[in-house]
Amino acid sequence: MDEKLWAEIDEKEPVPEHILNRMNELRKHHKEVIDDEYIKRPTMIEGIRKAGVINTAVLDEVARQIRAGMTTQEIDDIVSSFTKEHQAICAPLGYEGYPKSVCVSINEEVCHGIPSRFRKLHDGDIVNVDCTTILDGYYADASRMFCIGNVSAERKKLVEETKKCLEIGIAAAQPWATVGDIGYAIQKYAKSKGYSVVRDLGGHGVGLEFHEDPFVAHVGQRGKGMVLVPGMVLTIEPMINRGKAGVVIDPYNDWTIYTKDKSDSAQWEHTILITETGNEILTY
Ligand code: MF3
Ligand code: CO
Ligand code: CO
Repeated sequence: MDEKLWAEIDEKEPVPEHILNRMNELRKHHKEVIDDEYIKRPTMIEGIRKAGVINTAVLDEVARQIRAGMTTQEIDDIVSSFTKEHQAICAPLGYEGYPKSVCVSINEEVCHGIPSRFRKLHDGDIVNVDCTTILDGYYADASRMFCIGNVSAERKKLVEETKKCLEIGIAAAQPWATVGDIGYAIQKYAKSKGYSVVRDLGGHGVGLEFHEDPFVAHVGQRGKGMVLVPGMVLTIEPMINRGKAGVVIDPYNDWTIYTKDKSDSAQWEHTILITETGNEILTY
């Protein structure tokens, strides 16, 4: 969206005084506090919320149609056409040269799986579908796991416990807590289940751009890192491995991330808004 509109919103909807004051107080105490410009205003939040509604509908449509035997290109087609039908745009297409409209990551693929007409979903696969939707210039980003046909108990458990990791991360994302609190909570839970947490990739601020500050690590220390200020919009998107945490990047396409030990990996993602009393999931 154009600069002028932002300037207008800035003027008409300034960040509330008491929030600016508290941010400045924290800065004085050498806490990491995001720049004021990243605090979303009501008009922006409404825009991101609307993008979130379409994003959720896209993933619901994928949920209705996904099945064994389908190619990952067919998932790309579903996401692409449904998104267009709703006057929205798929953010991945052309993003830093990414060639498709959605990421589809299967089994040991951690994320950024590129849809292909040569790749089929098989009975027993666990599949992450990650959609980022732009509506009227505002971004919402979410992903879900899908179990294809008869999935082993081990894989089902990984999928369910990873969803729990996201929920625990969201519960930790309280106003005036820190990004480190989110990572700490996720890491602690994942470890207790014998899983490892991917460190090389993380969540991110989102809303006016695809990836904004801060980086949201899914490991961390309590009270460390960027403070979570009401009005921040960010993703939490833990990638959890059954084996070790190490990952490698596909040397041919330079996008797809795999577990180094070829163990299974799962991921769930939501876009959330930090509010004065807690948080709100914008991609439900
Ligand atoms: N949607 C991913 C995320 O959660 C980013 C994908 S980048 C792409 O941040 F280019 F691969 F689409
Ligand atoms: Co995403
Ligand atoms: Co994301």
